[in-house]
Amino acid sequence: MKDSLKLAKYLAGLGYGSRKEVAIAIRDGRVTGEGENLRFDGEPIDPPQGLVIVMNKPAGYTCSHADQGPLVYDLLPPRFLKRDPKFSSVGRLDAETTGVLLFTDDGALLHKLISPKSSLPKTYEATLARPLEGHEAALFASGTLVLRGEEKPCLPAQLEVTGERAARLTLTEGRYHQVRRMFAAAGNHVEALHRSRFGALGIDGLKPGEWRALTAAEMASLKAPVQGQG
Ligand code: URA
Repeated sequence: MKDSLKLAKYLAGLGYGSRKEVAIAIRDGRVTGEGENLRFDGEPIDPPQGLVIVMNKPAGYTCSHADQGPLVYDLLPPRFLKRDPKFSSVGRLDAETTGVLLFTDDGALLHKLISPKSSLPKTYEATLARPLEGHEAALFASGTLVLRGEEKPCLPAQLEVTGERAARLTLTEGRYHQVRRMFAAAGNHVEALHRSRFGALGIDGLKPGEWRALTAAEMASLKAPVQGQG
């Protein structure tokens, strides 16, 4: 009895239903196996607390629990939104930005990753409205670029020109619309934006809208102290 109460609490925390609903499912024999082989309706149970996933965010999806229209959470199993602790995106990407987006229910990790003190590098591929002029890399690397409406200059950022109207920008901070605003400050305009890396993580073979859980090694790399500024 004690064990099935514990199991019901555990499964309810993973979003499989209220404790009462899960207790009924257990009674009805829908939960089988044990330990790592636990199954619900024959399907392996979701990973326990401390889950981190990486998604290739598609364009047109908003990083919000509350807004209208397609939300990044619509791309996840509805059960994930019933997890306790809460499952949420690690920071946000603009609705039109694509690429690497992490989610977790690990509050301490979330705060570490989105803290202004985190200097984890994030890399963006920008498609620009106008050809690059040649001064942008030095401006972004200078540590003196002040964005409109702000006082504190941006930390030095690394720009690699990848085409006449295309560039790869690596930042170690994450201000609101930062990439778009940096290019605007340089007299250009970002037409499309894709985040290709978040720390050591890329999207690898994930198609837009697809996601996967991180491996233990990937989790360890995210939790390791970040070298460099910060
Ligand atoms: N910078 C932006 O301008 N937009 C994003 O979505 C991420 C970084």
